[in-house]
Amino acid sequence: MKAIEIRNRYLNFFKKHGHAVIPSAPLIPENDPSVLFTTAGMQPLVPYLLGETHPAGTRLTDYQKCLRTVDIDEVGDNRHLTYFEMLGNWSLGDYFKEESIQMSFDFLTKELGIPVEKLYVTCFKGDEDCPKDEVSSKCWEKAGILDGHIFFYGKDDNWWIAGEEGPCGPDTEMFYDTGKPACSDNCQPSCDCGKYVEIWNNVFMEYYKNSDGSYSKLKQKNVDTGLGLERMAMLLQGKQTPFDTELFMPVMSKLEELQKVDDIQSRRIIAEHLRASMMVICDGGRPSNIDRGYILRRLIRRMIRHMNKLQIDLSELKNLIDINVENLQEMYPALKENQEIIEQVIIEEKDKFIKTLTHGEKEFSKEIQKAKEQGKTKIDGEVVFRLYDTYGFPPEVTKELAEENGMEVDTKKFEELFKAHQEKSRMGSEQKFKGGLADQNEKTIAYHTATHLLHQALRTVLGEHVKQSGSNITEERLRFDFTHPAKMTPEEIEKVENLVNEQIEKDLKVTCEEMPYEDAKASGAIGLFTDKYGDRVKVYTIGDFSKEICGGPHVEHTGNMGKFKIKKEESSSSGIRRIKAVLIK
Ligand code: SER
Repeated sequence: MKAIEIRNRYLNFFKKHGHAVIPSAPLIPENDPSVLFTTAGMQPLVPYLLGETHPAGTRLTDYQKCLRTVDIDEVGDNRHLTYFEMLGNWSLGDYFKEESIQMSFDFLTKELGIPVEKLYVTCFKGDEDCPKDEVSSKCWEKAGILDGHIFFYGKDDNWWIAGEEGPCGPDTEMFYDTGKPACSDNCQPSCDCGKYVEIWNNVFMEYYKNSDGSYSKLKQKNVDTGLGLERMAMLLQGKQTPFDTELFMPVMSKLEELQKVDDIQSRRIIAEHLRASMMVICDGGRPSNIDRGYILRRLIRRMIRHMNKLQIDLSELKNLIDINVENLQEMYPALKENQEIIEQVIIEEKDKFIKTLTHGEKEFSKEIQKAKEQGKTKIDGEVVFRLYDTYGFPPEVTKELAEENGMEVDTKKFEELFKAHQEKSRMGSEQKFKGGLADQNEKTIAYHTATHLLHQALRTVLGEHVKQSGSNITEERLRFDFTHPAKMTPEEIEKVENLVNEQIEKDLKVTCEEMPYEDAKASGAIGLFTDKYGDRVKVYTIGDFSKEICGGPHVEHTGNMGKFKIKKEESSSSGIRRIKAVLIK
């Protein structure tokens, strides 16, 4: 059964059972800069799981485009994907375990025709937070799951939560027995030898995990389920990997035809990253050096590297994109509508990357020369990291080139630096609070830093009573609302502009430090939206001019921001003034 047919059958099945079919949310979450991409079907539904009324009712179903980036480096094996589609159905305080389990069983066995012998399920074994889920196991027995096919596990396997805090609960997972021989006497669904493949997860969301680690009961009992479409297609078609299904085959075959060096992993990486980047671009993503844009950049660049590895001419990229559009447009009509922009973005990024590689190779030659002169046999981890961080030069390439020169690289040190760097960006993206910068690019980031400069300049010129009461940033301008009782005079406006421009001209360094909220307050950092802060906060310091608690991101140096100009100063509401300002390059 083709993936699109599985999707259609799923949506129709749940429609028949009273569910409203809702559209997939975009891969790039709307109004939610706190996460990079949509990673599960429940993500856009969180407010409704917490009790808000959904306009389509209490039974919902959809297919959701998802991107999970933790696994990027695993792609290439036989199962990891970054982009995937999750089929889901939800009960918002409507049905609970019994009905949910019966529907899952019926869908798998009747709609998809999976023989019951092939199905295994797991349930939560219970702990101090939540009792053993015997209700679910009984429902499975009643539905028809065979004796000995039900297993109980703890929170590691049978509890679902997105992140550290939020709606959560015990889950029950369904597994498909591929028929491969058991890896040992103790081979069970929890084993990852590949015999049992997880196909569907029903979460019984009745708890909320608080930031202090404790659990509260939600207002309502919800069901949140997720079924991975690519995996299901693979199993139903009797294939070993998702890359052998119709979703990837056309591109995989083309790659095989084009390659001069044979490597199945590289072909998978190219096919996977191509589809993922096309989907991200289709939903508005663009490559950059931060957050979402950086993930997209990595996907595209990793794909290019593997094309190079297979010695495939990069001019074939357009061809590969066209094949994918042709193949996937029935599932994702937006790919066809956005074909031109997708091609443009990927090809531009390819050109940039080629420049980076050329640039990086030059730097590398200098470094290798230096190392040789110093009689070293190993390239320092710091150098590998600098080449990567400053020139975007991939560490694998450094390693390869070093080896060609009879040198090793200090991979361990590089890994350490890289981990620290990843950790930093992870914290950065996790801590970005809502309501600020939904769309981050070079322009909006510069406006964000300009907002901090403006805030401090207003306090210096008008007085410490000035406090931010609102901020809104687009690529074209910043808008800043602040407390001040009177209209600003032309002289005050000029002083503020000058003060901001002086800081820009000084090319001040912007630094970021993470600390407990109380320490940040004590250090004199200006704080806003107090209730949105977690226990630990980031403090951005601009030279010795401004210090503010903020999720970021910001420019690294103020020098290149452009000239700051206040376009308008007006009343926003009683006691609140509003400034609109621009940066002119
Ligand atoms: N939220 C659960 C998951 O992602 C079920 O959809 O697995």
